[in-house]
Amino acid sequence: MTRTGPAQEFYSRWATPYDLLASHAPGVGRIRGAAVDALDPSPGDTVLELGCGTGANFPALREAVGPEGTVVGVDLTAGMLSRARARIDREGWANVHVVRGDATHPPVARADAVFASFLVGMLADPGEAVRTWLDHLRPGGWIALLDLARSTRPVAGALNPLFRAFVLASSPRGTRRYHGESPTRVLDRRVAAAHRKILESCNATTHETTAFGFVRVSSGRREG
Ligand SMILES: C[S@@+](CC[C@H](N)C(=O)[O-])C[C@H]1O[C@@H](n2cnc3c(N)ncnc32)[C@H](O)[C@@H]1O
Repeated sequence: MTRTGPAQEFYSRWATPYDLLASHAPGVGRIRGAAVDALDPSPGDTVLELGCGTGANFPALREAVGPEGTVVGVDLTAGMLSRARARIDREGWANVHVVRGDATHPPVARADAVFASFLVGMLADPGEAVRTWLDHLRPGGWIALLDLARSTRPVAGALNPLFRAFVLASSPRGTRRYHGESPTRVLDRRVAAAHRKILESCNATTHETTAFGFVRVSSGRREG
């Protein structure tokens, strides 16, 4: 079961500070840019962004698809979508659209590329979600995921407790234990499952771990 109730409440309440952090935190633009580079959409493509939040990836996605392309963002949380809509209006983007919907049942039939950042850790069955997304991707189209998870590098040993505190603070109330597991363990397990699904199911896959091992980007091309 996808726990959407507490998550929607949480993200609606924190949409404004989230937007500031998501767009302006040091290094975050570079991380998002690298993930969009891994997706590598072509000019004119339609990109489906699942769990688009406040639209922090829209500038990079829109630049990649150009004026002939289209970006469609999907999110469940009204407060996040209203920030995304404000961004679209402010920038005057005619080819960026947002739709309220559940990422596990995308409301868009076909896309040339599928992208999701910091979403799969919130889905109860992320492997199944990726399988569904591949069904919505045209044969030969690309999928990419950007996520955070605990680092396995020795140098990050001292940083993992800080990461655990960050994950706990940013976990909606009611999702802080999941069948007895800590939020960090749940996040690690879900991120691993989603990225593994891409690596197992797609062609021409890439996987990169950066930022002391905390940032994961995986991409692949749907067969066909
Ligand atoms: C951590 S935020 C990431 C937002 C954005 N992708 C970014 O990189 O800044 C997670 C987002 O996923 C959304 N979300 C969670 N579960 C969802 C679902 N099942 N369907 C659609 N959106 C969902 C939340 O509303 C929230 O906006």
